Amino acid sequence: MLIVAPFAAAQAPPLGLPPLPIPADNPQTPAKIALGDKLFHDTRFSSTGKVSCSTCHDKAKAFTDSPLVTSEGIDKLTGSRNAPTVINSAYFPMMFWDGRSPTLEDQAQHPMINPVEMGLKDHQPVLAIVRSDPAYVKAFKEVFGVEGDKLAMTQVQQAIAAFERTVVAGNSPFDRWHFGGEANAVSDAAKRGFTVFLENGRCVSCHTVEQNFALFTDGRFHNIGVGINGVQADIPRLAQAFLQAKGRGIDVDKAVLTDKKSSELGRFAVTDTLDEMGSFKTSTLRNIAATAPYMHDGSLKTLRDVVDHYNNGGVTPKDAPVNDYLSGGIRPLNLTNEEIDDLVAFLETLTSPEFAAQAKALNASGPKAVQTR
Ligand code: HEC
Ligand code: HEC
Repeated sequence: MLIVAPFAAAQAPPLGLPPLPIPADNPQTPAKIALGDKLFHDTRFSSTGKVSCSTCHDKAKAFTDSPLVTSEGIDKLTGSRNAPTVINSAYFPMMFWDGRSPTLEDQAQHPMINPVEMGLKDHQPVLAIVRSDPAYVKAFKEVFGVEGDKLAMTQVQQAIAAFERTVVAGNSPFDRWHFGGEANAVSDAAKRGFTVFLENGRCVSCHTVEQNFALFTDGRFHNIGVGINGVQADIPRLAQAFLQAKGRGIDVDKAVLTDKKSSELGRFAVTDTLDEMGSFKTSTLRNIAATAPYMHDGSLKTLRDVVDHYNNGGVTPKDAPVNDYLSGGIRPLNLTNEEIDDLVAFLETLTSPEFAAQAKALNASGPKAVQTR
């Protein structure tokens, strides 16, 4: 019997990326992707009619809301976290900074009903629109063969996820040099910086690079001393209060995005495991020069600030107290100024051509472009 290759596997991934994992129950089709694209940009799925997924994941800003520190949803309400990019999220085993959502399909339902994001009370208004807007009725019928009451959030979420799986980007100068063998694709400083990344900086132990591709994330959770250092003394009380609130049935998605201190609990808020206190998902570093500011709370303005943070052993500013749950992999690095410059030059080579203009604009306007609290 002839085995038909799934749509996405038939296309080679961009240089530097592995084949795209596609769930068996949500195959990619051009019509589904176009539908997801439309849903992703539809502001009617918010209580004010003004916020869509793309408000905070804007293509022109490498699918983030850079330079905002933390995202702005309906009525300019701000949540507690910085918007990560959607680029290459199709490869991640878990979604959100704390991994509280398992898949792109599952993730897509949450922002619509989060009070500081799209602000709906429940998903009924979304269903009312997709079941009655003639263009949506036609598209959902064509793509999923459903209409009326049979059209559920499942299909809305599947279409959005299918679109997000097309938001992949590789082929950066680093990829052309390291995987493509193009000797002049990056500067000598960036080449030296890659050695710092692998050796003295020990970045690669979490931001992984494989033989034939690099996602720059192990998909795991680590406490690297961001945010949590500041609430160190309060951890026992916060942890207990959070567990009690969970026992009463609070919605974790709402709690971590609306309460700054709960946000700092990181992966602990999901797993209740003290070992994961203040741990967050290792970020991809692809297109990092286009998405300042950095970290789950947007607290570090520039790539140099990030490298300084690691060089200080997981504290900003230098010599501030460290929290008890810091990852064993984080300790002072004693990098020289030249190594720091080279490491930053390397990070700047991870920008895909699609987002080079955004990286350049952000760089030209300098750290001042990034808001302070
Ligand atoms: C108000 C701004 C805002 C809106 C609107 C918004 N997001 Fe997000 N998005 C965020 C923030 C902030 C996070 C990180 C939250 C966290 O990790 O707790 C995030 C995380 C994500 C992630 C996880 C990425 C990763 O690396 O873990 C995906 C995927 C995503 N959003 C897609 C969407 C989709 C799809 C929509 C529309 C249905 C949407 N977002 C609407 C701000 C927003
Ligand atoms: C122990 C694992 C670990 C090591 C080692 C590590 N990182 Fe990270 N990195 C993380 C985690 C986890 C985050 C997200 C943390 C947060 O937001 O609280 C992160 C975030 C980042 C970010 C910000 C990403 C964003 O989108 O905001 C950059 C840039 C970064 N790391 C670069 C580096 C560099 C450069 C090194 C080496 C000097 C390094 N990392 C070493 C785990 C690690």
